[in-house]
Amino acid sequence: MSKSLQAIRGMNDILPEQTPLWRYFEGAVANLLDGYGYRQIRMPIVEVTELFKRSIGEVTDIVEKEMYTFADRNGDSLTLRPEGTASCVRAVLEHGIAGGGQVQKLWYIGPMFRYERPQKGRYRQFHQIGVEVFNLDGPDIDAELILLTWRLWGLLGIRDAVKLELNSLGTSAARANYRAALVQYLSARLELLDEDSKRRLASNPLRILDSKVPETQALLADAPKMADYLDEESRIHFDGLKARLDAAGIPYVLNPKLVRGLDYYSKTVFEWVTDQLGAQGTVCAGGRYDGLVEQMGGKPTAGVGFAMGIERLILLLETLGQVPAEIARQVDLYLCAFGEPAELAGLALAERLRDQLPGLRLQVNAGAGSFKSQLKKADKSGALFALVLGEDELAQQVIGFKPLRGQGEQQNIAWDALPEHLVACLKQV
Ligand code: HAM
Repeated sequence: MSKSLQAIRGMNDILPEQTPLWRYFEGAVANLLDGYGYRQIRMPIVEVTELFKRSIGEVTDIVEKEMYTFADRNGDSLTLRPEGTASCVRAVLEHGIAGGGQVQKLWYIGPMFRYERPQKGRYRQFHQIGVEVFNLDGPDIDAELILLTWRLWGLLGIRDAVKLELNSLGTSAARANYRAALVQYLSARLELLDEDSKRRLASNPLRILDSKVPETQALLADAPKMADYLDEESRIHFDGLKARLDAAGIPYVLNPKLVRGLDYYSKTVFEWVTDQLGAQGTVCAGGRYDGLVEQMGGKPTAGVGFAMGIERLILLLETLGQVPAEIARQVDLYLCAFGEPAELAGLALAERLRDQLPGLRLQVNAGAGSFKSQLKKADKSGALFALVLGEDELAQQVIGFKPLRGQGEQQNIAWDALPEHLVACLKQV
């Protein structure tokens, strides 16, 4: 195939072999969120560029170098969304659904786009499930978000492989004080800083804290600590969150250098990280953004949320062997019919079975090929049982019921008795 017609680098097809695991994962999260009373919202994939610049921050990696931005035919600057929080805040404001202190607990799912260097666990089109809560300012809701993700890791069987890192960035006033102290400290040691950090010192000094350069990290060992600059309000909030996590028995690690790559956070920030996926180990991340709604033109409104990377969690499930066996099987029954009269009767019988047993996964391949080749296909389909309908069976109004996975011998079952027989057999697997 000509290279120009291949998928764009970092944007992947999700093939039929993989979609059952995706659907299992997405279904598990949707059920869990339903159980906590969160409601789904669906936002457009494209927004005006200004939205992301104003919310995520002009001097962030995302806005500076990772957005897919283009002019539409009107000349308006549009951007493929790099994340969901900005769009969600825009939607909530536009429709007035969090006005007057109205609590909203929302979630969304879908593709996000960032022009990053693709590698394992990092793509240019990736998928997130995100949660955003408006108008709840206490640490109890921060705790609920963490509790529900902890429950999800339990349901998926990956709890032992993820670790919670936690920090508080304080209110914007507290952060401004800390920023000034950090800049003063680092400015006095400018010659020891790496080039990237020097650049950030003027634009976004807090991001220096998560620099990967060892010399910069060594320099930071004696730098002012964010925890010492937290104001009373933020400290009480953070203590409240920690107390709730302790009470619920959720382990966490305090990471004073956790700053996140988006500018809208205040107070709580957290990341769930794993060491099982190499460099791209953050599977879920978020925090509080109490100033964002106001910054986007709304009334002061508390906000807190997170987003998880679906690709990374799918990779983690595969790496840990936590893919439930039954999700790979997409067919219960495979109907083979031989000769036109049997084929016609088979089709009608299959429809009747679908009426009687909603949810039955039945594949029909009537009339295509010899007895042997049809049974081969039945076996390959992964079905548990084949239904065999030929001239003899048709004459007797029975069907050959053939277990394909070594669960006994083939037997003839009367058409009328088939639903009951099927239910009993499927229950046993
Ligand atoms: P984020 O940390 O940029 O936060 O992304 C959240 C998660 O999306 C990451 O932890 C990771 O699992 C996944 N992710 C990010 N970039 C990629 C990529 N290039 N390839 C694969 N997966 C990726 C946000 O997006 C915030 N909106 C989260 C939030 C919601 N904060 C408050 N509410």
